[in-house]
Amino acid sequence: MKRMVSLAAILAAIALVSGGALAQFARTDDAIKYRQSVMFLIGQHFTRLGGMLKGSPAYDKGAFLKGATLVQTLAAMPWDAFLVPGSDKGSQMKDDTLKDTARFKEAAKAAESAMAGLVAASGTGDVSAIQEPFGAVGKSCKNCHTAFRK
Ligand code: HEC
Repeated sequence: MKRMVSLAAILAAIALVSGGALAQFARTDDAIKYRQSVMFLIGQHFTRLGGMLKGSPAYDKGAFLKGATLVQTLAAMPWDAFLVPGSDKGSQMKDDTLKDTARFKEAAKAAESAMAGLVAASGTGDVSAIQEPFGAVGKSCKNCHTAFRK
């Protein structure tokens, strides 16, 4: 009996992860607002990190690590909201994005893995070791925007 319950829980979790993009949002507009809000926050925090690497404000290990961790944490949130059918209309997402969601998911995954690299490097507190992984994250943003953002 116990085993059956946990199997049901696992199946429910899989359904949520794989097919739940639309079900999570009452309206298509909500999905657009949700992802734009998260991307806005990611943009704010990522820009601050870039400023710190240029000395404005001055580099601070704790603040940088906190910001990099925030960017990584936020990046766990928006991708499902991009996959909601019809949500290419009335947004900055390119019309053909939803025709090949595998490519979009790949770009999201690449960004998340670059962010994990940045968080790891941030823990060292060594600015020269942070520049490259920071650039890799920036590149992952740009790659996705070039492919999927108007
Ligand atoms: C997997 C694809 C993808 C990745 C990776 C990605 N973006 Fe985006 N981003 C988009 C798309 C698509 C939009 C347009 C969303 C819309 O209008 O619904 C967007 C919108 C934005 C916006 C505008 C938000 C607003 O106010 O409407 C900002 C800022 C932004 N991204 C910053 C970033 C930064 C910084 C990174 C990297 C740290 C990043 N993005 C990574 C796809 C991506």
